[in-house]
Amino acid sequence: MAAEANIGVVGMAVMGSNLARNLASREGNTVAIFNRSYEKTQTVLDAHPEAKFIPAKDYAEFAASLSKPRTAIIMVQAGKGTDAVIDALTEVFEPGDIIVDGGNALFGDTIRREKAVRETGINFVGAGISGGEEGALLGPSIMPGGSDESWVTLGPILKSIAAVAEGEPCVTHVGHDGAGHFVKMIHNGIEYADMQLIAEAYDLIRRGTGKTPTEISDIFTEWNKGELESYLIEITAEVLKQVDASTGAPLVDVILDQAGSKGTGVWTVQTALDLGIPVSGIAEAVFARSLSSKPAQRAAAAELPGPSSPAVGDVDAFIEDVRLALYASKVIAYSQGFDAIVAGAEQYNWNIQKGEIAKIWRGGCIIRARFLNRITEAYAENPGLVALVTAPFFVDVMASTQDAWRRVVSGAAQSGIPTPAFSSSLAYYDGLRADRLPAALVQGQRDFFGAHTYKRVDKDGTFHTLWSGDRTEIEATDTH
Ligand code: 6PG
Repeated sequence: MAAEANIGVVGMAVMGSNLARNLASREGNTVAIFNRSYEKTQTVLDAHPEAKFIPAKDYAEFAASLSKPRTAIIMVQAGKGTDAVIDALTEVFEPGDIIVDGGNALFGDTIRREKAVRETGINFVGAGISGGEEGALLGPSIMPGGSDESWVTLGPILKSIAAVAEGEPCVTHVGHDGAGHFVKMIHNGIEYADMQLIAEAYDLIRRGTGKTPTEISDIFTEWNKGELESYLIEITAEVLKQVDASTGAPLVDVILDQAGSKGTGVWTVQTALDLGIPVSGIAEAVFARSLSSKPAQRAAAAELPGPSSPAVGDVDAFIEDVRLALYASKVIAYSQGFDAIVAGAEQYNWNIQKGEIAKIWRGGCIIRARFLNRITEAYAENPGLVALVTAPFFVDVMASTQDAWRRVVSGAAQSGIPTPAFSSSLAYYDGLRADRLPAALVQGQRDFFGAHTYKRVDKDGTFHTLWSGDRTEIEATDTH
């Protein structure tokens, strides 16, 4: 067989076949396709003759159909499936060839795989791809890691299929080995927080004002014309106005209120815990999904006492407060997400350009939003920014939203409406800006029961109080 294809895709489920069709639709690309069972390949071939795919029945044929350096994107289920495909490809590929994992892999797995594959001379690139099925077909946001060498070949191909935002393709070489999948994981964490915040805003308005899902859909459509403009607000309006065909009820009322998860939000929180980064908004979003999925506990707790919900006074003013609270909490979610990126980059020696990440999230991905440009500007103005929320633009946002935010969170607590992400984001904000934190007392407690020592504000050194003796303070060596 002549090596006619410049790119191949392994895995013909919907994401893989859509990405292959996207590649085939771009000038200069000829795409080889392979799936474990040929039946699926045949279905894709039959459905899309215009793509002129080159099908392969086995890995050897797939490799033979690719020009060098051979480049293949794997779009299979994360985990063992990915390892099996990588093993098979390394058998038939040669040094200099490139294997790309486009699935949602855990970045630690990507680091491990990159190291193992590199030993064969083949390049391995973990690339986060966001945008769901439609994004894969029409233009996703792509977050590739891997070597500089592989980026030379891969860059132009990925640029050709990525979403375009303000004239720029939504793809950049994020950093080496697992950097791409790390950033995609954080993207998903922010996605979890954003979705939970929007859901809380909906719940507050519905329970606070009695507005119907259709009316709330109109509110979200309105919000989408302002600072909150984003894909997630847009699709929320669509979901809320959907009527269930079989019952005539709003669809949102017949969907079981137990949120699922494929696990990327959990990975973000686990990773952030290891890095010591408080991603509290993301964590609360993960926990809110867990709480929703405990029907037995929820049923047992259904009669627990709660307040009688006071009706909201000025409905329009309340809705505007919720909008501002959503905006403020969203800024915190991004700020925490970028903190995690900075910490990950430090820990794993990745040279990640924060402003570039915000740029490639402007189009194609699930968290695409108007205010991402402001994040890019913030890092351009000050590359060493220690917390995104302290950039001048976001300080102004906080100044204009914080009163409303506090009213919403306190009102929700009074009314017994759960707002874990709104509330934790506000608590984080107040913690961050506090002059003194009660962490001093925690240090005192630790020293009391465990002689864990403390430092003082007024002199250098490490100290311990002899709590069980005469309670004098001694200078100590901090070994705890
Ligand atoms: C994307 C999405 C995508 C997916 C995740 C999240 O960027 O295109 O984040 O990766 O929808 O699997 O799904 P869960 O909510 O099930 O974890």
